[in-house]
Amino acid sequence: MNYQSGFGNQFATEAVAGALPVGRNSPQRAPHGLYAELISGSAFTAPRAENQRSWVYRRRPSVVVGAFTPLAQPWLKTGARDGIDTPPNPLRWHPIEVPAASADFVEGLRSIALNGDPEAQTGMAAHLALFNRSMDKRAFVNADGDLLLVPQQGALQIRTELGLLDVKPGEIALLPRGIAFSIAVDGPTRVYVCENYGAAFRLPELGPIGSNGLANARDFLAPVAAVDDTTGEFEIVKKYGGALWRATQPHSPFNVVAWHGNLAPLKYDTAHFNTIGSISFDHPDPSIFTVLTSPTDTPGTANCDFVIFPPRWLVAEDTFRPPWYHRNVMSEFMGLVYGQYDAKPEGFRPGGMSLHNGMVPHGPDTEAFDKASNAPLAPHKLDNTLAFMFESRWRFRLTEFALNGGALDAAYADCWAGLKEAAR
Ligand SMILES: [Fe+2]
Repeated sequence: MNYQSGFGNQFATEAVAGALPVGRNSPQRAPHGLYAELISGSAFTAPRAENQRSWVYRRRPSVVVGAFTPLAQPWLKTGARDGIDTPPNPLRWHPIEVPAASADFVEGLRSIALNGDPEAQTGMAAHLALFNRSMDKRAFVNADGDLLLVPQQGALQIRTELGLLDVKPGEIALLPRGIAFSIAVDGPTRVYVCENYGAAFRLPELGPIGSNGLANARDFLAPVAAVDDTTGEFEIVKKYGGALWRATQPHSPFNVVAWHGNLAPLKYDTAHFNTIGSISFDHPDPSIFTVLTSPTDTPGTANCDFVIFPPRWLVAEDTFRPPWYHRNVMSEFMGLVYGQYDAKPEGFRPGGMSLHNGMVPHGPDTEAFDKASNAPLAPHKLDNTLAFMFESRWRFRLTEFALNGGALDAAYADCWAGLKEAAR
C-alpha cells in the first residue's frame, strides 16, 4: 500500500499520468476530460494554518447522484437531544460481541454516548461499529462530523474518494466530514468510533515539549489517488442532520483520478507515539498523552481530545504510579484496544468501555490501589496495552442501548468498595 506522509501537508497525487493540472486548479478543460471539484473542510477565510481543502479531478462530479430519500438506522443517534437522562455514576460496559447477523459498517453502528449538536457544529458522539460484511457498491458520507476510527477487532480496508487506507488494531483512521468512503472487512469487526461535530482534529500544541514528541506529523499517512472504474449502480448513504439518507447513482463515487490539497483521510500507527512522562516524581496530567485535539473557542478546553495510554516505562520515585483519584470538569469516554489498563487490571476488558462524566469521581480500583501502594518502585514497563479516551468538555448523555441494552456492568462501583477508611 502506497501512502503520502505528514499531517496537514499539501499532498499531490495522480493515478493516471498527467491527470493533475499544473500551475492552476481549474483550467478551461481539465486533463483527460476530468471534472475539477473543490472540497472545503474549513470556511474559505479560516486562518491559513487551519485552512483545509482539496481539489479532486474526477470522471463525473459528485453532484450527479439523484435525490436522497430517508434511510432507517434505529441504532444511530446524534447529539445530546437523542440521549436519555444519565445518572452521575461511574459507568462501565462489558465488551459487546459482534452480532452474527450480516451487517456492514453503516448497519453495524451502535451509538453509545452523545453530546452537543451537529447543527451547531459542536460536540461529539461515541459509537461502536459491530459488523462483519464489507460495504459492496455502497459508500457513506458523513456531513455531520469527522470520523475517528479506532479498530479493536479485525482490520479495515477503507476506500475513500482520495484513495485507500489499510487500518488494523493499534492504528487509527481519521476520515474528514463530507468525504465518501466504504469499508471492507474479512470477518467480525469491532471499531470504536468518535464522530466529531466540532472543529477538525489537529495535533496539539507542544509548548515546552518543543518541536518533537507525542504524535509526530510525519507519521500520519494519507492515501494516493486510486480511481475505481467499477461500473453499475452505487448506493450513497449520507448522514445529514442526524438522519441517514440514501440515493443511487450509475457510477462509482470513488472516481477521483487525481487530487491535491491538505484535506485528506489519514491513518496513524499508535506505536509511533512518542510517549512522554515523569522521570522524577508524580505523573503529569493525562493531557500528556493527547494524540489529536478538536479545540473550541475557549482556549485549552477541547470539544474532543483523543488520548491514548500506550506501552510505556514507569520510573517515578515516591509516586503512586497509576492515575490518582479525581473528578474533572471534562467528561471521559474510554475504551481498551488490547491488554490491561493499569487503573483497572481486571474489570475493564478489551472491547469494553467506560464513561466518567464531568465531576463524577473515579480512580484506581481496590486491587490496583493496594498493589501500587505497596509495589517496589523499580523501573517497570507497562507493556502490551493500549487504552484510549475521547475526552470532551461537554457532558455525555447515553443512548437507551447503552444504558439499558444489557452490556452495562451493574457491579462496577463494587471495584472501589474495598477501599478502607484511613485510621482516625
Ligand atoms: Fe479519569
